[in-house]
Amino acid sequence: MLSCRVCGTRNWERVLSLGYTPLANNYVRMNDLKKEEIYYPLTTVFCAQCGLVSLDVVIPAPVLYDFYYYLSSESKTILAHNEWLARYLTTRFGLGPADLVVEIGSNTGTQLRCFKTLGCRTLGVEPAENIATLANEHEVETLNRYFTTATAADIVTQHGRSRCIVARHVFAHIDDLGDVLRAVNRLLADDGVFVIEIPYLVDLVDRNEFDTIYHEHLSYFTIGTLQRLMERYDLRILDVEHVEVHGGTIIVLVERARGQEAERVRSMIEEESAKGANKLEYFRAFAARTEQIKLDLVSMILDLKRRGQRLAGYGAPAKGNTLLNYCGIDSAYLDYVRDNTPTKQGLYLPGTHLRIRSDEYARAHPPDCYLLLAWNYATEILEKEKEFIDAGGRFIVPIPAPVFVGG
Ligand code: TYD
Ligand code: ZN
Repeated sequence: MLSCRVCGTRNWERVLSLGYTPLANNYVRMNDLKKEEIYYPLTTVFCAQCGLVSLDVVIPAPVLYDFYYYLSSESKTILAHNEWLARYLTTRFGLGPADLVVEIGSNTGTQLRCFKTLGCRTLGVEPAENIATLANEHEVETLNRYFTTATAADIVTQHGRSRCIVARHVFAHIDDLGDVLRAVNRLLADDGVFVIEIPYLVDLVDRNEFDTIYHEHLSYFTIGTLQRLMERYDLRILDVEHVEVHGGTIIVLVERARGQEAERVRSMIEEESAKGANKLEYFRAFAARTEQIKLDLVSMILDLKRRGQRLAGYGAPAKGNTLLNYCGIDSAYLDYVRDNTPTKQGLYLPGTHLRIRSDEYARAHPPDCYLLLAWNYATEILEKEKEFIDAGGRFIVPIPAPVFVGG
């Protein structure tokens, strides 16, 4: 068993087992459908010492990220969020043309482009070769490397120190957090800010977002646990913003440790304790609710099938693969899943082998009901599919608990 990547102990308690699943972003090409896929255990554990929730296995980063299917979302919701974040940080920290903004796991550069527009110098760090190439083609300067102490040292030599290091939806993917935080210490200017955007564990649990558990997400953090980690590396949390994207996300502003802990941060940590978010029982109750969702969802779908209805999935997000594999929902129930990402279309989902179809195909072959796998875009998608709903079509929104919409 691993030692805890925050406190180093091995005081693990098992929380929730989602069975065995293939890697959630390993979409399958038609020619590979007959090849056997590797299934890995998907189990979360809780550290009784520091409150970290973690997976109990670590898939080596090169297996997951040297080639990566996941492209930064270009959805309206996320583009608006990218713009807001760049504006918020440049204003709050007075970032300008002299300042370098570095993004870790910068993907195709959609976030950095917003900082560029606002006049900052930018540099992306992206380990996936296929994606770093795309970013550079789109004129967002990007190093094709993992963010390590060596990478940080090279950036300092070539570009100087950074006043703003951004890590959006990547911190939870990193096993060796010590090396990354040492790298941050090396690269960050004395008055700089390190910005971590991650799903908030309290939202994940309170809203039953079990499907956001997959092999890329190694750690699930409360603010209390993060604060404890930062202290070990002479950093501290300056402030936290809580936003709605991806089902509840925190944007944690980290600076070099100085002075007292911020009042707002202390009160958020107190709220977490008051809720019991540092206790095993809190997670055990979540595990029980997850099992109930599986039972309810499967019975809703079986009922529709018995009545001869046609079903399809809406969106092919990574989390959809956790949900489908855990609930055993495959081609016996869904005809296809639709996704508007051109690079995913024509591929098949890992495990369930559902075919990913385009929006055009779905409009020509509409089901009676969609299972909304991309539920984090519910508002945007339900609005876009008004015509389908007005014509009697329905959605099942599975999270926080399966309900019908429309019809
Ligand atoms: P996302 O939530 O970005 O990712 P993940 O769970 O993998 O981290 O995935 C949303 C998926 O939904 C993405 O593949 C694009 C797709 N999508 C549509 O097909 N249509 C839409 O209108 C929207 C907003 C998303
Ligand atoms: Zn721990």
